Amino acid sequence: MSTAGQVDIGLFLDLESRNGPRHQRAAAAVRDAIRAGRLAPGERLPASRALAADLGVSRWVVVEAYEQLTAEGYLEARRGAGTTVARAAAAQAGPRDDLPSVPPGGKQPHLDLRPGQPDLSAFPRSAWQRAYVAAARSAATDELGYPAAAGMPTLRRTIAHYLRRVRGISASPDEVVITLGTATGVRLLARALVARGASELVVEEPGWQVLPSVARDCGLRITPRAVDEEGLVVEGLPGADAALVTPAHQFPSGAAMSPERRRGLLAWASARGAFVIEDDYDAEFRYDRRPVGALAGLDRRRVAYLGSVSKTLAPGLRLGWLVAPPELRPALDVVLPLHALPSALDQLALARLMESGAYDRHLRTMRHRYRERRDALVAALRRESPGTVVGGIAAGLHLSLPLGDPGRAQEVAASLARAGVLVAGPERYSSTSTGAIVLSYARLPVERAPEAARLIARSLR
Ligand SMILES: Cc1ncc(COP(=O)(O)O)c(C=O)c1O
Repeated sequence: MSTAGQVDIGLFLDLESRNGPRHQRAAAAVRDAIRAGRLAPGERLPASRALAADLGVSRWVVVEAYEQLTAEGYLEARRGAGTTVARAAAAQAGPRDDLPSVPPGGKQPHLDLRPGQPDLSAFPRSAWQRAYVAAARSAATDELGYPAAAGMPTLRRTIAHYLRRVRGISASPDEVVITLGTATGVRLLARALVARGASELVVEEPGWQVLPSVARDCGLRITPRAVDEEGLVVEGLPGADAALVTPAHQFPSGAAMSPERRRGLLAWASARGAFVIEDDYDAEFRYDRRPVGALAGLDRRRVAYLGSVSKTLAPGLRLGWLVAPPELRPALDVVLPLHALPSALDQLALARLMESGAYDRHLRTMRHRYRERRDALVAALRRESPGTVVGGIAAGLHLSLPLGDPGRAQEVAASLARAGVLVAGPERYSSTSTGAIVLSYARLPVERAPEAARLIARSLR
């Protein structure tokens, strides 16, 4: 396992899929990780002994690989400071394959600050591998059959326990439904609502546009409602059947829903017999205060809760969960068989990862790392652009720079793209017009924060 501030390099290395002697394969794997930008200049590599143990090779193999890469200029070894990725290595890095094309005349992007993904290079590969192998080894024969539509009982038990412990939600394993992520959860809930005769869903404006569009596809009419620094404005909510909210950390403004608004929203739902759909997408990352409990912890009867591992582990796993209010459950049970599920082994592996404590350890490591990255970016932005408001920094993986007018936010986002910095402009998360740009610090190493802030300051000017 990595410690905070030090990359878990075992994550990148897949020696079996390479040819040649082991030390050359290890060197090639580290070189590729640097060239692809998964290891950033200045990042510290694990001690040779630790990495050797992680990879199941002798220490000599790692020492040889490190020496080779030091000779090539990819790594630097300093007495007492260990081995780090050389500052000059950025110049040797090839283009990253996960970045989109740049606008005509723009530079090759070298900072991807678009929100939506965690630091995928920190995915706990070794821990996942152990959990997966253990799941494959010990799965009962029956567990390899068609999974129950609501998910594997083992994972539903684990999630019920996790939600009670971490989010203050009291739900029995039977009440937990495993999904392919939040978007699938919204699809299921929207279908269940429509089957009960519902027609209208209130959504936050601005907000992540994927979820309203999924609900619209299922037949719900979407009514956007304004958000302010206390979250969704609840006063004067229309007579809708449900409201979809991000109370822990509004996306994208970053506001935490205030206690008054929480009470107001639940009172609205109770009075109308409506439901609140709670998208708890990045609640695990709260930095300066204790986490705010989930709305579903206050009222299980009116709140349908959605969570996933997309921000905590990786969206590519497609693993999530929902807890529906008892009144919605019969309608949900009718649509559940239409729903696709994650593979049985993935579900069992996640249960293992959580039960072994490795998931909590990963969250602790990442919370620390993201907090350092957030602090570095906020400090650098304040230095480079004094007077600029930096919003939504208490939690999550992104912050927002409100710029007043949407046209200006679009211009700043385009100017940043030309300078090689990708951020989300207003068109990414607004159905109308909010003038902010949204930046994620999840993948921004501390030492690159000043460079990012300088480029942002230049575009703001
Ligand atoms: C507001 C919001 N909710 C939820 C998610 C996660 O969705 P899923 O669990 O379907 O990957 C995201 C991902 O970007 C998001 O921005």
